[in-house]
Amino acid sequence: MTYQSEYQASIDTPELFWQQQADAIHWFKPPTKILAKDEHGIDRWFVDGELNTAYLALDHHVLNGRGEQTALIYDSPVTQQTARFSYSELTERVAVLAGALRDMGVDKGDRVVIYMPMIPEAVMAMLACARLGAVHSVVFGGFAAHELAIRIDDAEPKVVLSASCGIEVDRVIAYKPILDDAIQLARHKPNRCLILQRPECECELLPQRDLDWQRLVKQSQPADCTPVMATDPLYVLYTSGTTGKPKGVVRDNGGHAVAMNYSMATVYDMHPGDVFWAASDVGWVVGHSYIVYAPLIRGCTTLVYEGKPVKTPDAGAFWRVCADYGVKGIFAAPTAFRAIRKEDPDCLLAKQYDLSALATVFMAGERLDPPTYDWVKQHLQKPIVDHWWQTETGWAIAGNHMGLEPAQPKAGSVTRPSPGFDVQILDAQGLPVARGEQGSIALRLPLPPGCLPTIWGNHERFINGYLNTYPGYYVSGDGGMLDEDNYLFVLGRTDDIINVAGHRLSTGEMEEVVAGHDAVAECAVIGRHSELKGEEPLGLILLKDGVHIEEDELRQQLVDRVRQSIGAVASFKQAVVVSRLPKTRSGKILRKVLRNIANGEEYQPPSTIDDPTCLQEIEEVLRPLK
Ligand code: COA
Ligand code: AMP
Repeated sequence: MTYQSEYQASIDTPELFWQQQADAIHWFKPPTKILAKDEHGIDRWFVDGELNTAYLALDHHVLNGRGEQTALIYDSPVTQQTARFSYSELTERVAVLAGALRDMGVDKGDRVVIYMPMIPEAVMAMLACARLGAVHSVVFGGFAAHELAIRIDDAEPKVVLSASCGIEVDRVIAYKPILDDAIQLARHKPNRCLILQRPECECELLPQRDLDWQRLVKQSQPADCTPVMATDPLYVLYTSGTTGKPKGVVRDNGGHAVAMNYSMATVYDMHPGDVFWAASDVGWVVGHSYIVYAPLIRGCTTLVYEGKPVKTPDAGAFWRVCADYGVKGIFAAPTAFRAIRKEDPDCLLAKQYDLSALATVFMAGERLDPPTYDWVKQHLQKPIVDHWWQTETGWAIAGNHMGLEPAQPKAGSVTRPSPGFDVQILDAQGLPVARGEQGSIALRLPLPPGCLPTIWGNHERFINGYLNTYPGYYVSGDGGMLDEDNYLFVLGRTDDIINVAGHRLSTGEMEEVVAGHDAVAECAVIGRHSELKGEEPLGLILLKDGVHIEEDELRQQLVDRVRQSIGAVASFKQAVVVSRLPKTRSGKILRKVLRNIANGEEYQPPSTIDDPTCLQEIEEVLRPLK
């Protein structure tokens, strides 16, 4: 099957196409209805099928002779530890943890929040929930208590799973105080917290609420896999929207399992027994899809790496891991390679390792800038595949499908749409533009399996945020262009979401936090170009009348505030005071103009600008910034 025929089949006869892909996984009850509308009129896949995602990822392989194969490798340069778990071992560990959760009252449909560092127990926690048909919601460890509290209130978990600490290079980050603060802040109180004590920093357990992970697991019996409907939720993963409140992207079981298995073969060319390494974090969608579910469902070996691309201990870390474990496919954000290039410009460290098993380098999460592409290509001499996707879709909307065709890159393009994704470029009226013209990237409905069917607890937000803009389409929030060969070029967000080191962040949320400072009358937070992280946030601050405060002192207070409220991951480090913010006559801040000025780009103030004279001051303030 070539890419073109596969793609065409997926668009011409989607039900037949996806039925064939569904046949590749094990169902307790195979679906007979492949595509149907739910009560909200949303397309749902495999609606009468029954399965269990953890069964597919674990038991199925054990029962089919893969029990001895390594399922998961843990490599932790920050604790000097490594470990391997075979499919049999991982199945047993997950079954017992599921038993412990069941003893804590967790049942099918209940939510469980997981706030953990990159250790194997985080993966076990996700799979244990899946085993019970419970819905996990993993919160990235770099988020602060307030963010965790927002997610706890929205997901209303019965139980929270956490660890005493995470380790950031050489710093121990105590997680338990963050969890305690979050539960204090949250309206919803979980019944129980199961805490894994790590030797680097043991924590106090609250007598009525907290349980010791190791102790409970020792007393627990394994739990069986609970069959769930294909449309039942597997997880909720929060991602940044344009407002302060994150959106709970819902992933179902059936469509997701089919998409994971299919994409692993088609996008990544990974097959049972191959070693795949997504150098991300289980707190992000990349981690959900390609550290946990896809490699395991496909029968590959996955890697949990508790370290950084640099400093743990050096810029050779990625190459060392690839060589040590015979990694066939690595997936990371371009920022990781920029960090490596900064420390090892001639990529000398790569020469110290045997990278012969490495077939392809995959990148996503942010724009792959040509210098980074060229540098990796030059030094590794391997295919480099840029692919574009979102938390909402759960797998690549577009890429170079290595399981279907060799790498055929075009500079600056994420290659062609994945089978199942009918990518269109629309103008402001929702009409397709001509080839080569820019517009809003939209996906013609139905979305393929694996994509979100709703926002947790807020279906209106799903409809209004994604489906109402252009009837019949899902709007991605990215702008772009398709060329005459159907190659897609992603040109960046059309909203106020920024991408910092591959992490998707809401400037609107940062504005809410900054505006909460007593001295601040009004503010705008925009994304400024960063050599290392792609973008970094910058706050423009308008002080309240009569307030006098040293600018450095204010900046430090605002930086602390964002760190306390959102987390270190926001990388909010710069804020400048201005006397006016450019606005339209109706009072809307002209963020695009601010972005253009901050990034030294040409700009045209819109005719609706209220007072163009304020732009001069903004230019003077922003120009000297480094
Ligand atoms: N728990 C606690 N804190 C965390 C954290 C976690 N899981 N992850 C990050 N942080 C903290 C960092 O320690 C840092 O804190 P600091 O400001 O006190 O130094 C802050 O959040 C920002 O972290 P990060 O964005 O990782 O920046 P960095 O300067 O520490 O490292 C890179 C830069 C490029 C090495 C790093 O961003 C990286 O590895 N990026 C890969 C991106 C990636 O995996 N993206 C996932 C999508 S594919
Ligand atoms: P997230 O939901 O965190 O995965 O972020 C999704 C957003 O990241 C997309 O909407 C894009 O703006 C950006 N993004 C992801 N992959 C790419 C890519 N390969 N090229 C350009 N932007 C990307």
